[in-house]
Parts: sequence; C-alpha cells; structure tokens
Amino acid sequence: MATKVGVIGAGGMLQYHAAGFREAGAEIVAVADPASGAAAKAAEKWGIAEAYQSVEAMLAECKDLDAVSIIVPNKFHAPLALQCLKAGKHVFCEKPPALKASEVEEMIAAADAAGKKLMFNFNNRARPESQAMKSYIDSGVVGTINSAQAKWIRRTGIPGFGGWFTTKELSGGGPVIDLLHMIDLALYFMGYPEPAHVLANTFDTFITDKNFKGPWGIPDRADGTNNVEAAAHGFVTFKTGQVLTLQVSWAEMVKREEVSVVFQGTGAGGKVERLFGRDGLDETAIDTCELYVQENGNSVNRSIVTPACEDMGRSHSARNFIEAIEGKAEALNTPDQALNLMKIIDALYQSAETGKPISI
Ligand SMILES: NC(=O)c1ccc[n+]([C@@H]2O[C@H](COP(=O)([O-])OP(=O)(O)OC[C@H]3O[C@@H](n4cnc5c(N)ncnc54)[C@H](O)[C@@H]3O)[C@@H](O)[C@H]2O)c1
Repeated sequence: MATKVGVIGAGGMLQYHAAGFREAGAEIVAVADPASGAAAKAAEKWGIAEAYQSVEAMLAECKDLDAVSIIVPNKFHAPLALQCLKAGKHVFCEKPPALKASEVEEMIAAADAAGKKLMFNFNNRARPESQAMKSYIDSGVVGTINSAQAKWIRRTGIPGFGGWFTTKELSGGGPVIDLLHMIDLALYFMGYPEPAHVLANTFDTFITDKNFKGPWGIPDRADGTNNVEAAAHGFVTFKTGQVLTLQVSWAEMVKREEVSVVFQGTGAGGKVERLFGRDGLDETAIDTCELYVQENGNSVNRSIVTPACEDMGRSHSARNFIEAIEGKAEALNTPDQALNLMKIIDALYQSAETGKPISI
C-alpha cells in the first residue's frame, strides 16, 4: 500500500515536496492551509483529493495518513511537528528545523515517544554533487576534514519586505537561519562533530533597502517588520579540533550569488559549489564538484562529473523521506544533526548580540 501523506502549507515549496513524494510512489491525500482558498487552489493545481483550512480538521478527517510534510513559516515548524507526531504521523519538516535548539529537543522527544520518523528538508545534501562528494569522504580518500568554509552569499536577495521572512518573531532570523544549508552541508562532510565555541557577528545594513530585494520571494507588506540580519560572518570550533568559517547573506556587496562548501582534509581538499548566473533557481548556474590531491609529486585537481539538478536536490530529498519511512533507503539526515545545527545557530546569534565568543 502506498504511503499516504498530508501536506501542511500551500506555498512555493509544495511543488518539490509533491514531486519527490510521488517519485517515491507515495499518495498525497490532503493539503491544509489556513489562508482563505489556498488549500483548495493548491489541491486543484497539484491533483490532491482533499483540502482543509486547518491542520486539526485534516488530522481528524484523514485518519489513514501515515506522514505529514510541514512547509510553513518557521515559527510554526515546532508546534505543528509536535501536533502531528502526537497524532502518530511521521514528519518531514522544512528547514530550519525550528526557531531554536530547545524546540528541536521537544520535537525529538515527541518523535521518540511516538516511535515515528522526524526528518528535515536539508535538500542540499541530496544534490548529486553532495552525494558524490560524500561517497569520496566515506571511502576514506579525504581523510579527516581539518577545516571547512561554508558560504551562501547573495548580493540582492532579500525575500520580500515586511513579510514573515524579515520578521524575527516568525522566521527566527535572516540568512543565518534561512540559508543554513551550506553550514549543514559542511557539518555533514565533516562528520557532524560536536561544536565547542562560536564567534560571529551579524549586520543589518540594507535590510530596509529595496535595492537589495530578490527577484523572487513573498509580496512586500508596507506595515510589516524588517528586524533580521542581512548578512553574517562567523567561526565555529569543534570538540574534535576541526574548524568552520561561515559567511551568509541576503544583501551584501559581493560579485554574484555563490553557494559553496570548501574543505581541507588530511587526504584531500574539495569543493562543492554553485555559482548563479542570476539570482534564484537558474538553468545557467555552474555546479562544481572537485577534489584536490597530491599524487606522484603532482598537485592534481579532480573534477567529478555529476548530473544536472536545477532544483538543488529538493525533490530527491522529499523522495528520501518516503523511502526512509518505508525502510528502502537510509535517512539523509537525523534529528540529532538538526539539534547540533540549531545549537550552532543559537550560538551565532548569541555571539552577535553579546559581542563575545560563546561556548556550547
Ligand atoms: N528547502 C528549500 O529550498 C526552501 C526554499 C524556500 C522555502 N523553504 C522553507 O519552506 C517554508 C515555507 O516557505 P515558503 O517559501 O513556501 O513560504 P510561503 O509564505 O510561500 O508559504 C507558506 C504557506 O504556509 C501557510 N501557513 C502559514 N501558517 C500556517 C499554519 N500554521 N498551518 C498551515 N499553513 C500555514 C501560508 O498560508 C502559506 O500558504 C519555510 O520554512 C521556508 O524556510 C525551503
């Protein structure tokens, strides 16, 4: 029998979740969204049988749901995940896992109590470049990664003014929490070591300047709030002795949008990178996957050829959730990794607020 999924949130990401779930053979039974007409419109567009204006109604009426996917503003990730886990559903939750680490702890406790899977959409792990690089790391070629640099930088990428993305109470923050993907990917490559200390600063320059608006995003709200950072720079040390440098921005004077993890290992260095030709999803983007080794007295750069994947692993990541529930694939991420990541994010903001290094 096909796994039955209910989707919560009818926004921009629904299409990728739907594609991935269907690729895995799951059935999308229902969609819930409180905005007037949003669920019904999405149900019609994506061929979903049932539309609900509340999650309560969906859970009450669709009793045979096995799993839910949570695709709503960040503030609602934890409460909705708790509600659905308590109702006995597996949960696939968009990133960030929650607003802060303490919420992820509650989500993990609820998943353990229910005996259900809790996974997050760290879709950049599912990109072909990331999986190819991980296979080299797992094979031992890279050795131990001593140091890594994680970057997701945009020049003009504020995703709407005054909406939930720029309201700290709803989003938890700006690019640190929104563009956490490369920090997560660097940690994935490094073996998800336990963090020791974090030193960072955030900058809100340009956060109210419409010259720095992204070419996509949600509609502006004139009466809304813009109280999140526009850029952040930080440094993380780990109990293993490894170190991570990071740079994230929605708005910063950089040449072009760049999404990358670069690392230096004891056996090889490497890079996974997407350079955008223009902002956002982009068929002209250049993807790179490279290893740097010393062989026979030569410096050798290996270029790993991977299939094109414009959606940056989004549908593959959703497919993996279904396959992990069904025991057909290993889960691409674990709740403990999400907790580790959120502890680093909490500490990044705390360091920026206090001007001090934070010990975790
Ligand atoms: N993985 C990625 O590449 C990626 C990309 C974009 C967004 N996201 C994440 O997806 C999530 C949603 O972002 P989006 O761009 O789709 O936002 P959006 O604003 O386009 O859509 C969010 C939808 O959620 C609905 N909603 C709000 N509160 C709700 C609630 N309590 N219950 C049910 N529905 C509710 C809204 O009515 C809206 O239709 C965010 O967490 C964001 O970080 C991930």
